Amino acid sequence: MPASIQITATADGPNMVTGAVELLWPSGHVISQEGEADGSGAIFLCRCGASNNKPFCDNSHLRIGFKSTEGDATATKPKQGLGAA
Ligand code: FES
Repeated sequence: MPASIQITATADGPNMVTGAVELLWPSGHVISQEGEADGSGAIFLCRCGASNNKPFCDNSHLRIGFKSTEGDATATKPKQGLGAA
């Protein structure tokens, strides 16, 4: 069974990635591995576009007042288990 990876769009902030994941540059060089970004076991990826440390969040979303809306055009229905309709 493959390791579980979860990506959570945080409220008004970055995408939080948890699980055994490697983040790579197009060249294939490893940018970050699980838990490496901040020691919490999660990697936080910018989704506001304002980070000066892309692809990571550097909290610039706070400075620019980034607002996300749950249920926007990119959202899908809530996770209800594998195979749920
Ligand atoms: S989401 Fe935090 S800097 Fe973009």
